[in-house]
Amino acid sequence: MAKFKLKVNGKNFDVDVDPSTPVLWVLRDHINLVGTKYGCGVGSCGACTIHLNGKALRSCQLPVAAVGVQEITTIEGLSEHGEHPVQKAWLEQDVAQCGYCQTGQIMTAAALLKTKPNPTDEEIDSYMSGNICRCGTYTRIRTAIKTAAKSTTK
Ligand code: FES
Ligand code: FES
Repeated sequence: MAKFKLKVNGKNFDVDVDPSTPVLWVLRDHINLVGTKYGCGVGSCGACTIHLNGKALRSCQLPVAAVGVQEITTIEGLSEHGEHPVQKAWLEQDVAQCGYCQTGQIMTAAALLKTKPNPTDEEIDSYMSGNICRCGTYTRIRTAIKTAAKSTTK
């Protein structure tokens, strides 16, 4: 075990865990932020996506010891009351089906729009391709990303 200081959603947390513990489990089991989901555990599904210094990253593949002073943002911290343009667009387009993958989809989409405010279909498909949805909501995801893009570039 070792002690780590983490900055998550703008707040400081002290955790005492094995240095190899994936951030996914630190968030869920030690900080009680359970919006970030466990899917495959091997970096292949995107359900566990968080932002590290604003960049989308698979938290199941990130050992807590590698975080240091970098800032973690989870779905709970993306906006205070669900008012992030991507979250609003997701509701408007009624994207979710079972919902399990949607945290990861939203976090990836938000990171995409930060670097590409007006992405093409191809750019959306390429950036989102690592986020798997077993319910097949891909068409609505793409529409929602375009809706969010329009709302932020108006
Ligand atoms: S749980 Fe992390 S990529 Fe699937
Ligand atoms: S909404 Fe069910 S897995 Fe994506």
